[in-house]
Amino acid sequence: MALGVSLRDRFPVLSRTVGDGKRLVYLDNAATTQKPVEVIHAVSGFYQESNANVHRGLHTLSEEATTLYEGARKSLGFWVGVDETEVIFVRGATEGINLVAQAWGGENLGRGDRVLVTVGEHHSNLVPWQMACKRAGADLILLPLGEDDLIDKEALARELERGAKVVAFTAQGNVLGAPEDVSGVCQMARTAGALSVVDAAQAAAHRRIDRDEWGCDVLALSGHKMMGPMGIGALVGTKTFLEGTPPWMGGGEMILDVRDRDADWAPIPAKFEAGTMNVAGAVGFHAALDVMRALLDEGMEDHISGMTRLAVDGLKARDGVHLLAKGEPHGVVSFWVEAAHPHDLSHLMDQEGVAVRAGHHCAKPLHRRLGIQSSLRASFYGYNDEDDVEVFLGALDRARAYLL
Ligand SMILES: Cc1ncc(COP(=O)(O)O)c(C=O)c1O
Repeated sequence: MALGVSLRDRFPVLSRTVGDGKRLVYLDNAATTQKPVEVIHAVSGFYQESNANVHRGLHTLSEEATTLYEGARKSLGFWVGVDETEVIFVRGATEGINLVAQAWGGENLGRGDRVLVTVGEHHSNLVPWQMACKRAGADLILLPLGEDDLIDKEALARELERGAKVVAFTAQGNVLGAPEDVSGVCQMARTAGALSVVDAAQAAAHRRIDRDEWGCDVLALSGHKMMGPMGIGALVGTKTFLEGTPPWMGGGEMILDVRDRDADWAPIPAKFEAGTMNVAGAVGFHAALDVMRALLDEGMEDHISGMTRLAVDGLKARDGVHLLAKGEPHGVVSFWVEAAHPHDLSHLMDQEGVAVRAGHHCAKPLHRRLGIQSSLRASFYGYNDEDDVEVFLGALDRARAYLL
């Protein structure tokens, strides 16, 4: 398997055109990646061959569906270096973080407790903590980022010394794109007795991650950013965390016994998987992990870095273009352009087939601190190549010229 243009055939949507026959240059990968044929076939194959609810029947289809679903869990567990019981399937990183903030936070956060997040967080790792803190009367503290766009460790040390129950942070932001020193931050949190919660939505899409190497209590990721289907992701927690946290939602499958007025919980992971799960999504995610393994072996992470650097260099060479990252971004390049609104630029670039993101990218507090309301973001994946970067820069130039 080779990267860039030779990979495009494997991702059917990339062969379509947009507008008046323009080749699609898809640079919104941080929002969601495209899906390879392996994933599309796995999902449709599940519905064509094995569709049934899992863990609920003794008939052939139910047993097959259960084997496929649990196979996906095993694969993801192996992928992040944990026992399969430590993998909870959820809709995505957002749901995973909400689970932690509500289930763990509901039991463990109280008046005056302090929760640390960073100014660079996606709303998914900010708003759930705002809600949990409001409910508990706890204080939410936003840590600053340093010149390299990474957590300011001196500020973190100061805040930890004042006491903190949680440190929740992204392993790689979706705006600035700086790969964080996750193990260093987790180590500081652990020493201070705080729970470490890692938003791995972007990081997990670019490299293989190892929960124990990071040393976090929990991490959340989204399958659809890793070439998997929409609506499937995982919360990966240590046994200690998961066993010590009450269930989030009640319903079928998450119980051991139910009486009239109370119930006993099933062991992990079932305790956190109430109701019918996204089984087809998990099956597709399993297929995506297999593709990802092959692409990473081919050097996908370096390839993405190369595309990012090319775009950064191209943007830096243009007057009136300002990059949001102060450090070295990986996978995403966010920028704003003097005298041109991001939405107008994005709309004009779309007419040339170039799909980039315009807006606040679900990171309003970060944009506010940078003194802007919105920005443009190009984000890269294994199937993008130099030609895509060139088309992107050319489309940007023409859009700017049109708006002058
Ligand atoms: C850094 C980061 N965290 C969390 C999320 C939320 O992921 P999802 O919408 O898949 O739950 C995103 C999505 O863009 C993200 O980029």
